[in-house]
Amino acid sequence: MIPTPHIEASDKDEFAKIVIMPGDPLRAKLIAETYLKNARLVNSVRNMLGYIGTYKGKKLTIMAHGMGMPSAGIYTAELFNYYDVDNIIRIGSCGAYVPEVKVYDVLLVTESYCESDYIEIVTGEKTRTIKPDLSLTEHIAMIAKKLNLPISKAKVHCTDVFYRKNFDDYLSIREQHGCKAVEMETAAIFANAKAYGKKAACLLTVSDSLVTKEVTTSQERQNSFTNMIEIALASV
Ligand code: HPA
Repeated sequence: MIPTPHIEASDKDEFAKIVIMPGDPLRAKLIAETYLKNARLVNSVRNMLGYIGTYKGKKLTIMAHGMGMPSAGIYTAELFNYYDVDNIIRIGSCGAYVPEVKVYDVLLVTESYCESDYIEIVTGEKTRTIKPDLSLTEHIAMIAKKLNLPISKAKVHCTDVFYRKNFDDYLSIREQHGCKAVEMETAAIFANAKAYGKKAACLLTVSDSLVTKEVTTSQERQNSFTNMIEIALASV
């Protein structure tokens, strides 16, 4: 079923087997224009920009997945299911739940705790936690080590709600589930990978801290995630 309702490319060859996905379309554009050779736009439906090109001679796609599980779930399902994509690496941002995790730290996700039924709906398994692909995650960890770029492994909270009624909810989620940070997409992406027999992993840069209330600006977020991007690119 291509093109899909959300992706206009009419040929599977318009996508590489590996796709690096930030949430923000403008970040996808910036990464593609900075790092890909012969970058070409393959999707602009709803401005969810996707580019194909080569990185160090290898075919690579950079495409945004938007904010939240419903959005990320749609794009990753269509890439896995209809465009024969095998590997997705999300490169996103997160909020820190613990004081040891500082803004601009890079985290490699080892498990995701989801507050909704998303995982069960997609995989049929009655669970609220899901892991990324172990081999892809270990490969990324090895690459970061080789590049001498520091990362920390972390279980994260995948939430549907950015603005909660009770800000302090994070304290009990941190305590009950051992989550070191919060973001909004991993559970959907990992669940789709599991459901379709594909691989997904996730690197996150800390953009704010719920503990210290420190924040970064959107301009900083867009431009200064270089370490994370370079780890993801070198993992290709
Ligand atoms: N909450 C949810 N998702 C996020 C946050 C946050 O504080 N920061 C970056 N992504």
